[in-house]
Amino acid sequence: MLKVVILISGNGSNLQAIIDYIQQRRLPISIEAVISNRADAFGLTRASQADIPTQVLEHQRYADRAEYDQALQDCLTRYQPDLIVLAGFMRILGPALVNAFHDRIINIHPALLPKFPGLHTYRQALAAGETVHGTTVHFVTETVDAGPIIAQSSFPITPPDTEETLQARTQTLEHELYPKVIEWYAKGLFQLEKNTVIWHNDEKSL
Ligand code: GRF
Repeated sequence: MLKVVILISGNGSNLQAIIDYIQQRRLPISIEAVISNRADAFGLTRASQADIPTQVLEHQRYADRAEYDQALQDCLTRYQPDLIVLAGFMRILGPALVNAFHDRIINIHPALLPKFPGLHTYRQALAAGETVHGTTVHFVTETVDAGPIIAQSSFPITPPDTEETLQARTQTLEHELYPKVIEWYAKGLFQLEKNTVIWHNDEKSL
């Protein structure tokens, strides 16, 4: 059984997609806990409805990033996770935390990295006149949105696309891609070695 902890800050639509995918396929994956840095994150309600334990660690209650990261590390350690899944977790993880769980933290970013790291990816893509947009799942390293890429999924941008339509289409792809990547990880189809994603067969084709 692969033990997973999922970190969120908000709506948790990716969390829901992961919960549903695991349940529907009866995968040997256990979501041990959902941790949020915001008490009002709707994802906490989704987790409770699925009988998944929740933890709230509000960053405002800590003096600085190092203190917060230590508290988060302590919390994560208690669950002994095989994989930590960032699903809309709007906090940057410091180097100590990233190193503590080296090669076991993944994130989903709403753009085709390395294009458009950071915030407002849809606005950035439209302003740049892009013809394609999408989403990226990657390992988390010390540099934000720059870790080794595991998988991407994309769609064409067509006028009159707006930030809202790009978000809707990107999130639809995210809800398909992220659960699959977690399933592939559970099956040992890929791993991080020396900062490179190593595949053990070609099942990543979507
Ligand atoms: C997703 O679009 C993800 O790419 C980004 O934050 C969003 C989270 O949405 N990191 P949700 O909370 O899963 O609905």
